Amino acid sequence: MGRFCFCFPKCRVAKIMAWLQIVLGGLVILVSLASLYKLYNAGFFLHNEDICRHLYTGRTESFSEGFDIRALKDRVDEVLDQMSELQQSLERSVKQMDKAHQDLGKTTMSKLDHKRFLEQQVIKPLYSAHIALRQIRFPNLDPNSSTISIKEPPLINAFITEEIRKYITPKENRIGKMNIYGTKSVHNTIGHSCALMKKELEEYMDYDIGSYCKDDWNLAQKLMVGGCDPLPRRRCLTRASKVYNKPFPINDSLWRTPEDGNVRWNNYQCRNFACLSSKNPKRGYSKCTGCFDMEKEKLKWVVNSSLPVDFLIRDVLAIKPGQLRIGLDFGIGTGSFAARMREQNVTIVSTSLNLGAPFSETIALRGLIPLYVTLNQRLPFFDNTMDLIHTTGLIDGWMDMLLLDFILFDWDRILRPGGLLWIDRFFCLRKDLDDYMYMLLQFRYKKHRWAVVPKSESEVYLSALMEKPPRAI
Ligand SMILES: *[C@@H]1O[C@H](CO)[C@@H](O)[C@H](O)[C@H]1NC(C)=O
Ligand SMILES: *[C@@H]1O[C@H](CO)[C@@H](O)[C@H](O)[C@H]1NC(C)=O
Ligand SMILES: *[C@@H]1O[C@H](CO)[C@@H](O)[C@H](O)[C@H]1NC(C)=O
Ligand SMILES: *[C@@H]1O[C@H](CO)[C@@H](O)[C@H](O)[C@H]1NC(C)=O
Repeated sequence: MGRFCFCFPKCRVAKIMAWLQIVLGGLVILVSLASLYKLYNAGFFLHNEDICRHLYTGRTESFSEGFDIRALKDRVDEVLDQMSELQQSLERSVKQMDKAHQDLGKTTMSKLDHKRFLEQQVIKPLYSAHIALRQIRFPNLDPNSSTISIKEPPLINAFITEEIRKYITPKENRIGKMNIYGTKSVHNTIGHSCALMKKELEEYMDYDIGSYCKDDWNLAQKLMVGGCDPLPRRRCLTRASKVYNKPFPINDSLWRTPEDGNVRWNNYQCRNFACLSSKNPKRGYSKCTGCFDMEKEKLKWVVNSSLPVDFLIRDVLAIKPGQLRIGLDFGIGTGSFAARMREQNVTIVSTSLNLGAPFSETIALRGLIPLYVTLNQRLPFFDNTMDLIHTTGLIDGWMDMLLLDFILFDWDRILRPGGLLWIDRFFCLRKDLDDYMYMLLQFRYKKHRWAVVPKSESEVYLSALMEKPPRAI
């Protein structure tokens, strides 16, 4: 009688474990069979030699266009890992029970413990493995059509989190007709590198719909910089500063340091604007020393400089009086270029990333437009639209030449004929200068200003002001 009592919980668990293993094993076999069946079906029904060849040579990377077999494999591997973890954890528990049995002569596991054990250690992992398998979507095989019709949105099998999958899934128009874009559905996109940063993205998309988001803009920025760009939208409420005051009026805000209270400082080394001064060595950013010092910023592009690489806004605007109205400032800064241009009635959009300091908030609080973009993406402007592109402080000699080439062609695309490209204090190694010059000159722009001066023994500064020619072809 007594022995039976000791044995009871242990045997129960052992029994459950055995059953679980059988169930899990069954699941795996089912999935494998299902995928194999579909593969072979595809091959035999369609008599498509290519598909067969793929099958027989074992080249399964893409047995059919659009279906991501690699994602499928990853997913199955993931489930297998989960199940082997579950098995180990169950075996560990049984061993511990054995030990407790020997030591104490009886086990003390109550029914409540037992229930909790099942919930936490068994049901939860089993459930997530089950869901992971369930969510794998296979291509629809339409026997009437000559090709396998794939309805799977790309990347969908790479993610388990429901919110990510919901986001990626194309949204069909409700009335079943074409929408204003002439498409039947709207596709939300994410950067393909999101698949490489799955953990981070799943953390980012882990929230309760409608509740407050975590204070995690830096995670979002890390994802973007890492190539998960565009990021998915979220359905949670972004936090704001606890003491947000209305911004200063525009005649005041352009050249005034914003109020500390209007920025959330949690994720920066500095906790106020005073700390961001160029004298502070621990301010957490380096690309734009002195950018938060308005007295220094006020001198840029308006005060005669001793260096020929520093062009003045006055001189640049004089080249095309009244014709420079809108433009892009590509770099990292606090918007002082846009502020100066605004005084000249020129509207400038400033790119910004919050690299260690609140650049975007600062630009916006000054009454200017921050464009939160990385180097990854095609610029969100149409062809032949900008009167001016000014760049400083970001595009330097650190950059891969091929990347720079793609960026330059993108700038050329958005610049209108007769628009100006102002390269401001680009610097690189002296020995690389010829390569960069070649890249700039390949567009055959008209040179208005061109200056090279030494920066250090091995480095040089280059500034250029060039005009895009008409392209009437
Ligand atoms: C395939 O074709 C047959 C006969 O032409 C038709 O009855 C069947 O509905 C079609 N199936 C699909 C899925 O279109
Ligand atoms: C800004 O404009 C308001 C009203 O238009 C004026 O009262 C105020 O003095 C101006 N401030 C500055 C700094 O010019
Ligand atoms: C700056 O230089 C221009 C000509 O290059 C000159 O006309 C102007 O007086 C100078 N301004 C100052 C403040 O030195
Ligand atoms: C900017 O526009 C305003 C209003 O149209 C005008 O009063 C001002 O003179 C302009 N400034 C410049 C520098 O052209």
